[in-house]
Amino acid sequence: MKTTVFEQACEAAELIHSHVPNLIPRIGIVLGSGLGAVADAVTEAVRISYSEIPHFPQSTIVGHSGQMVLGRVDKVPVAVMQGRVHYYEGYSPEQVTFPVRVLERLGVETLILTNAAGGIRPGLAVGQLMLIADHINLLGFNPLTGPNEPQFGVKRGAGLRFFDMTEAYDRRLREMARRAGQEQNLRLEEGVYLAVSGPSFETPAEIRAFQRLGADLVGMSTVPETIVARHMGLRVLGVSCVTNLAAGLSATPLSHEEVFETGRRVEQQLARLIASVVSELAVEMDSEAKP
Ligand code: HPA
Repeated sequence: MKTTVFEQACEAAELIHSHVPNLIPRIGIVLGSGLGAVADAVTEAVRISYSEIPHFPQSTIVGHSGQMVLGRVDKVPVAVMQGRVHYYEGYSPEQVTFPVRVLERLGVETLILTNAAGGIRPGLAVGQLMLIADHINLLGFNPLTGPNEPQFGVKRGAGLRFFDMTEAYDRRLREMARRAGQEQNLRLEEGVYLAVSGPSFETPAEIRAFQRLGADLVGMSTVPETIVARHMGLRVLGVSCVTNLAAGLSATPLSHEEVFETGRRVEQQLARLIASVVSELAVEMDSEAKP
């Protein structure tokens, strides 16, 4: 008999939990291309390869090593996903978002999604980080198509068939990230992320069209995970690294190497930013825990 996504996610979460029986992660962090450094900030780290986790999709892309790192950042229990899978790899929308389902089953309430993106808004600099304020889904699918899976969001009153996406990227989390950025003298603007399926980069005409649609950044990930996370009632923070200027906006052709190299150059900055957001969240969680 075919098991449901819910049953599969529970099974995957159980395997992970058996490796870290005393840790219930509150924050899930998904790391994009070349942005793996955050995982080094995790203390008491336990690493589990995706290949060990039942039903978990395996990344096929060089530079997206696939492992989950569980432990603590500034005392807060976290689950960090080093590597994610994409729709362009041939995975179904359900498979692409399965890891986020598993994070929810593990206990995660806040999800931090990072990605590499092409910069569309004029004036953006290669290597700068941006907060995602909103998104435009041009992937051509919604990962929630099909039977509703209400079990995931039940305890937060979520899991509805139709739900609001007005503030998909949590305002308070963005404020926290902006404060953390200021402390680190980071230029941290907000922008609209437009998702395409890839794997080809865009044409200059597509980028001009996306600019008119109101997009500041373009990328091939994050949006499916955000939609599924919001369906489950998780709070989402999205951070993009502008790894290149989008097609037609610079003199050089786009390449995966450029994307990856830029990621590598700023991953420490991103790691510091995320660590301070987690610290701010720790303060908030502490005050919630007190009567
Ligand atoms: N386009 C789409 N996805 C991307 C880009 C881009 O320019 N850069 C990094 N991911």
